[in-house]
Parts: sequence; structure tokens; C-alpha cells
Amino acid sequence: MSDIKTVAVVGGGIGRSHIVEGYLTNKDKFKLLAICDLDPARMNGLADEFGIERRTAQFDDLLAMGDLDIIDICTPPMVHYPMVMAALAAGKHVVCEKPLVGSLAEVDAVIAAEKQARGRLMPVFQYRFGDGVQQAKAIIDAGIAGKPYVATVETLWRREADYYAVPWRGKWRTELGGVLMTHAIHQHDMLTYLMGPLKSLFGRVATRVNPIEVEDCVSASVELESGALASLTATLGAADEISRLRLVFENVTFESDHEAYSPGNKPWTILPRNDDTRAQIDALLEGWQHVPQRFETQMALFHAALVSGGPLPVTSADSRRALEIVTAFYHSSETHSEVTWPIGPDHPKYESWLPAGA
Ligand SMILES: NC(=O)c1ccc[n+]([C@@H]2O[C@H](COP(=O)([O-])OP(=O)(O)OC[C@H]3O[C@@H](n4cnc5c(N)ncnc54)[C@H](O)[C@@H]3O)[C@@H](O)[C@H]2O)c1
Repeated sequence: MSDIKTVAVVGGGIGRSHIVEGYLTNKDKFKLLAICDLDPARMNGLADEFGIERRTAQFDDLLAMGDLDIIDICTPPMVHYPMVMAALAAGKHVVCEKPLVGSLAEVDAVIAAEKQARGRLMPVFQYRFGDGVQQAKAIIDAGIAGKPYVATVETLWRREADYYAVPWRGKWRTELGGVLMTHAIHQHDMLTYLMGPLKSLFGRVATRVNPIEVEDCVSASVELESGALASLTATLGAADEISRLRLVFENVTFESDHEAYSPGNKPWTILPRNDDTRAQIDALLEGWQHVPQRFETQMALFHAALVSGGPLPVTSADSRRALEIVTAFYHSSETHSEVTWPIGPDHPKYESWLPAGA
């Protein structure tokens, strides 16, 4: 049996980048079988560009395709949940863009559905992949970095009227959140990926940049399970755009590249505390195998997991962690109180954080 998996991409915005960066770079692993988009011009433009015969505006058509292995959901956030649930119920493997869904209740329902499903689900967090972030991960996992002390995480981006001209953006019901859900979610995932889960958060959110419903400036003080402290700040009103993580461990300080949309790619600044640590790092990284950035590696690892039955590179548990941070931020800001983990069904914002009437 061939190991090549067939894919349908739903939504031709970031979906185009999944094709270019993720599937065409892994031609020995994936075959593009279908394109689905409500917008006929986008659907046909993309299908023509990549020579894909099968095209449909009806998501349900994909569910009935017996020769289709993977449905890759790149639609606006409000339709992720029904699409993920339907695709899993139809026995498909699923890739889904961030934010996976719009509440902790929904992510728990997805996790439960996944346990019963034939297919597997991989949420997208492509910023995890690239030499910089993966080298930091390797050094931390090897125990060389030591005890985590503090971190700063900045997502200082710029979004203006042209961005919000797309009708689903900026609104609670369709985007489901603002800079927390759509932008900073990547860098916040990188923090937990490298330093571990959170224990408590005191945060504030505000809408200060654009005339939108959802927040576009946030800041929080957090404590990690390890006892490490971190500050998270994000805005969509910066003059220039950077993403930056600076992680201070007992033996090593790491600083990410500042490239806004691929801070994991280029080699990071790695500052060992002493020569012994430097020697350990040099030994670990000797003969380092290049890790291509973003979707190229995430899709390659997805394929490997499907073929081997091994672990997925990003999981629904990772999405839950990301959505816990979103939930905690909104609740803390609204109540001016600290939110502590775990965040379960008894939390006031477990079912939804959308404002009443949204
Ligand atoms: N990982 C990243 O770096 C990244 C970058 C951009 C966007 N995103 C995420 O990807 C998702 C899409 O964002 P975008 O910027 O590409 O949006 P977009 O509006 O540019 O594209 C979405 C496409 O989905 C189509 N669509 C909407 N509803 C549909 C439906 N029911 N069936 C079929 N097609 C439908 C639209 O016609 C549109 O072409 C969002 O969740 C966003 O947060 C992720």
C-alpha cells in the first residue's frame, strides 16, 4: 500500500501556504486531491494554480470522498468546530488551523471525539518548527538548560483597516477573539512548548488600535508549573513587527529570532552561563540536521505519525493549553483577579468567553 496520503484543503487563504510550504515540499508524502472554498474565484484560482481537478464549495462533499485521507481546515475560526467534528465522524484525518475551536468545552468535545475516531487530528502550530526553536528545545530536553527562571514573550504586530476589511475578522462571533486567539497564540504556544504549562495568570485585555469588537492589546503576568515567572505582551498596533521570546534558565539564556512570522527559524541567541555548559551545547548540536521551518516540517512529521502510528507533532492537548491561556486572560481581565489552573468545566468561562449578546 502506498504511503502517499491524499489531501483536501478547505479555505484558500492560509490554505495556499499549507499547499506551497507544506504539501508541495513533501510531494513524496502527500497528493492534493481537492480544493473546497465558498468563494468560487478563490477555489478555481487555487485549483488551477496547482492543477487540482476536484473542487467544491460544499464541505460535506469531502466527507463522502472514499479516496480522501486528510481534510485540512483553513476556514475562519467559527466553522472549525463543526468541520473538525464532522471530519472525525467521517473517519478522516484532520489538520486544523489555529485557533482549533472557540472554548474549552469545545476542545474537550473534540478530544473526546478523537478518542473514538478512526482518523487523527493535528492542530496547526507551525511556529514550533525551524532550527532556532528546535535547537532550544533539544538543549532544554537534554537537561542542559537547567531550572527555568523567567521569560518574556512579545507579539508586537501591526494590523490595519485592510486586514479588517475581511468580514469575519474583528468580530466576536466569527473570529472568536482578537490578538490572543489569532496572533499571540503562536508565541504563547512556543512558551509552553519550551518552558512548560502555566499555573496562574493575571492579565488585561484592551481594544486600543482598531475599531473592532475584539481585543488588540494584551499583557499578563504568569507563573508556570515549574515556578518560573513570565510576562506576555501583544499588540496589533506596532510600527514594525517582531515576535520575541527571551527565556532565562539556570544555565542558559535563549533569545528567539525577531522575525514576526517565523521566530523559530533562524538560529537563536544561545548564551551559556559558563564554559562547561557551552561545551555540552556544542556537543549536543554537533552534526545538527537542518529542520525546515513552519509547515514543511509540521506536515512531514504529521505524515510520519500517520504512517508509524507514533506521536503527533502538535496535539489537541496542546490546543487545550493554548485555549486555557485565552480563557484565563479574558476572565482575569474582566474580574481583575488571578486565574489559577486547572481550568475545568466549573470555570465561568468554560463554555464560552464571548460577551453576552455576541
Ligand atoms: N497559522 C498561521 O500562521 C495562520 C495565518 C493566517 C491565518 N490563520 C488561520 O487560518 C484561518 C483562516 O484565516 P485566513 O486568513 O486564511 O482567512 P481568509 O478569509 O483569507 O480565508 C478563509 C477562506 O475560507 C473560505 N470559507 C469560509 N467559510 C467556508 C466554508 N464554510 N466552506 C468552505 N470555505 C469557506 C473563505 O471563502 C475564504 O476563502 C483562521 O483560523 C486564521 O486564524 C493561520
